Amino acid sequence: MLPSSSSIRDRHPLNINPDVPLPTILRDRLTMEYRTQPETETIREGQDVVLGLSATPKSLPPKYFYDDRGSKLFEAITQLPEYYLTRTETTILQNCVSAIAARVGPCDLIELGSGSSTKTRILLDAYRQLNIHLRYVPVDVSGSMLEETAHLLLQEYPQLSIHGLVSTYENALANLPDRIHPSRMIAFIGSTLGNLALHECETFLGHVSAALQPNDHFLLGIDLHKDTAILEAAYNDSQGITAAFNLNMLDHLNWRFQGNFDLRHFRHVSFYNTRDRQIEMHIESLRSQIVNLRSLEFTATFATGEKLLSEISRKFEIPEIQETLSKHHLNAVETFTDSQRWFALILCQKKP
Ligand code: AVI
Repeated sequence: MLPSSSSIRDRHPLNINPDVPLPTILRDRLTMEYRTQPETETIREGQDVVLGLSATPKSLPPKYFYDDRGSKLFEAITQLPEYYLTRTETTILQNCVSAIAARVGPCDLIELGSGSSTKTRILLDAYRQLNIHLRYVPVDVSGSMLEETAHLLLQEYPQLSIHGLVSTYENALANLPDRIHPSRMIAFIGSTLGNLALHECETFLGHVSAALQPNDHFLLGIDLHKDTAILEAAYNDSQGITAAFNLNMLDHLNWRFQGNFDLRHFRHVSFYNTRDRQIEMHIESLRSQIVNLRSLEFTATFATGEKLLSEISRKFEIPEIQETLSKHHLNAVETFTDSQRWFALILCQKKP
């Protein structure tokens, strides 16, 4: 069943009770760092909505998918039969993880967009089995998700130490915590790179490269270009979860900026743009309408059939992405894929 928008929005997303302290034995292995966004960032956040809705064609930044309900809907997407990405990446990771751990050795593992760290457990298991020490540095904008996950991991992995970083990727990469191991590995899995436009992708990889020293590693998970029917099914699932995820963005704007989007008058549209090799998710207006976002003092007018772009999800070719990585001094040392070549995990080493 879909999480309802009103029931979960205001609750603590993962039911952590901050009043219950962690036992000392766990607390000693956990540090948390909160890099709260300055006020100016919040103002800018609203301005990106105004800018996007004033442009032709209209667009909205994908970060507005992820309120509590949006995050839960995304978790539900990862379990869908049509959404092959998560399960394929998990299988690849299971097959190659010992090779990665053996090659990288003891390290500080920084995971960007860690979420509930489901796939990370595969890496942690391999490190544990090989008896190689690791410090885990999950980075996520959701502090509650990060804390809850860290508490679970500490109990599951008695040797593990964790430094949780509640931050945007950009802020985290600009100032990572001091190393406790000589070696660092940054992991960016789940094909989130595909949600960045080309220029954003270049900037991001520049920041990753700058955060690494020669011989450090970068582990990247990317979805690959493939048959249109397979791609389109993954973003138009039969249960309508992706549609709910897409439209939830409007609901998020409603509560965040005192808006009055009426979700009954919009619909989810997504298709594969073969020229640009990207899935495009749009929200289409089903009639001519005016929407107010009161706290932004902004009004948007929609024509019947007008679409706003809510997300791109780029699909990569392995040689092309390897070349891009190389421009940023990130040498692909191992590329792992599945038998159908639907998804790839690329292990890079920063060039000396
Ligand atoms: C988070 N990201 C990798 C997902 C993707 O496939 O691009 C977001 C998503 N959008 C719709 N379904 C999943």
